[in-house]
Amino acid sequence: MKNQTAINLEDLRQQARRKLPRIAFDFIDGGADDELCMQRNRGAFSRYRLVPRYLRNVSRRDQSVRLFGHTYASPIGISPTGLAGLWRPDADLMQAAAAREANVPFLLSSSSNASLEETAALAPDNVWFQMYCTRDAHINADFVRRATRANVRVLVVTIDIPVNANRERNRRNGFSRPFRMTPGVVLEALGHPAWVLRYLRTGGIPMMRNWQPYAPEGASAAQVADLFGTLTPAPEVCWDHLHRIRDAWSGPLVIKGLLHPEDALEAVRIGADGLVVSNHGGRQLDTAPSPLEMLPAIRAAVGEDVQLILDSGVRRGSDLVIAGCLGASAAVFGRPSLYGVAAAGQAGVARALQIMRNEIDMVLAQIGCASFSQLDSRYLWRAAHETAAHAMDQDLSQLLTERFGAAA
Ligand code: FNR
Repeated sequence: MKNQTAINLEDLRQQARRKLPRIAFDFIDGGADDELCMQRNRGAFSRYRLVPRYLRNVSRRDQSVRLFGHTYASPIGISPTGLAGLWRPDADLMQAAAAREANVPFLLSSSSNASLEETAALAPDNVWFQMYCTRDAHINADFVRRATRANVRVLVVTIDIPVNANRERNRRNGFSRPFRMTPGVVLEALGHPAWVLRYLRTGGIPMMRNWQPYAPEGASAAQVADLFGTLTPAPEVCWDHLHRIRDAWSGPLVIKGLLHPEDALEAVRIGADGLVVSNHGGRQLDTAPSPLEMLPAIRAAVGEDVQLILDSGVRRGSDLVIAGCLGASAAVFGRPSLYGVAAAGQAGVARALQIMRNEIDMVLAQIGCASFSQLDSRYLWRAAHETAAHAMDQDLSQLLTERFGAAA
């Protein structure tokens, strides 16, 4: 099945809004506090202009990127999102399959509904596994062991949830853990019968299969979700935990959720091979800067050898091109893939990826750059009032380089 009706990612968002009960759509769509960080994520891209160069023969264009030993067809990938089976049964597997077809990375969340083993087997080159450090050291170690055994290509550790955030849409809608169908939720959900039927047909709340082995045998999906909620987030997590993971995992290690260049340097120092520069899509700290704003300083701090993946607010091909000009190796998006899967299953995810691919291709041609890997800051122009901020970025990265030296 193909979904060609969405012209852009906002169309997919609107389709998802119609298909999902409000409580579900808001869970995906919302952010922390006043949702200013989400606005900042989008606004950061609009501060830049891409200045086109002409007469450069752009008849053949290449947007492939090499990340951790594999060549991907596009610089866009799918961020990890937990509980996706609530939006559509098998959403994790659908995203993995769409990523495999498009040959892009799919970061499977440890709080997914499909297991890491079955998802990695479905798309071995595309599935990266994302975990949080939990309160239980044995579970942390076991996730690393299981990822190794499942031949997962890349391990991603997310560090930006020391505590749960204040997501007011969820509070207003009564989104609780575990997910409960209260009478109010049921009433509103009836306006989205296809979702309700699928939900009921598949037995209600989907099991968090990655966590199932750590719960008592026969535990229900709600009990497993409760266990997850008891052991995460873990505010005591610190760099020592990351050291332990680095020691236990021999493959490429990516740390997700960094914004400060000093944290980026520390991550590289403990042996991270890549970083996802992210504010969790504005779902955690509403006053956090947008990752795009921090990208130049982080790139300057860590040097050229570290893969920097930009996350949060990526919605257009031009966003990726701007990120590429500022030093990103690739970018990932979270919500658009969920909108796609909610709207049309695997076809919806495929459509989101195809839209991005087409837009990136068109923008590369428009600016006279035949290859994503050849982007640099000479394609960018920023309004004069932004220059002061840019100078501050550069001062900061110079300061960091002086204090810590160039990254290894
Ligand atoms: C997330 N995100 C997330 N991140 C992570 O590392 N592990 C996870 O399990 C989740 N779960 C999750 C659920 C939902 C519903 C959303 C929307 C997001 C954050 C995600 O990986 C990513 O950082 C953001 O989605 C990026 O912002 P955009 O692209 O959605 O604007």
